[in-house]
This record gives sequence, structure tokens and C-alpha cells, in this order.
Amino acid sequence: MATTLRRRASLACATLFVVLASPSSFSQEPNVVRVTAERYTFTPSHIKVKRGTIVELRLRSEDTNHGFHIVGSPFNAIIPKRGRGEATLVFRADSVGRYTFECSKMCGAGHNFMRGTLTVEE
Ligand code: CUA
Repeated sequence: MATTLRRRASLACATLFVVLASPSSFSQEPNVVRVTAERYTFTPSHIKVKRGTIVELRLRSEDTNHGFHIVGSPFNAIIPKRGRGEATLVFRADSVGRYTFECSKMCGAGHNFMRGTLTVEE
């Protein structure tokens, strides 16, 4: 029984990110990172966070709809058109590493090149 529980715990640790439905239920203040999407770049395109921090990504667009997908994670947000508000992703960065994020909504000729990196460091 104890072994099963331990195995389950380590599996949980192996996930890249834990999606948080309700950031307010955590005592830790989220690390807010504002990201702007504009054909065909994200600004900033390199995001660095510390392991274990709660990260709140606020995504907005300067033109059309874009997407935001962290490769290898379940995250896939649609960033609304300019002036229509923002998309928010809240997660805990659990595993050290370098992850790629990319636009996941067809937005034009440069869509496939619209990407960036998220680094989780110790
Ligand atoms: Cu931006 Cu596709």
C-alpha cells in the first residue's frame, strides 16, 4: 500500500506542469508574466522561471487571434484579438528544463515560426 502511494507521488512529480484551476487557493503569490503575441512573434520569447513557483501567464494580442501551446503539456490557450482581453494560464513549474511554446492557431504565413522557450531553473 505504501509503495503504491509513493509511486503515485513520484509520478506526480514527473509531470512538467500542474494546471491550477484556482490560483487563489494557494498562499504563494503567482509570478505574473505578460506576453504579447503579434504576427509572428511572442514578446518576450524567452521566459525564465524558478522551479516550484506558481506562474501566471497573461497573454494578449496586438493583432489577430493566436494560440499558445506548451509542447508536451496540456496547455493550449486561444489568445483573443487585440482589444478583446487576454488569456490567462496558471500553473506550477514543477520540473527543471527547457520547454518550447508555440502558436497553435493558424494566423498567417509565419504561423509555424511563431514560438519561444520557457526555461524552468533550479
Ligand atoms: Cu500566431 Cu499562429
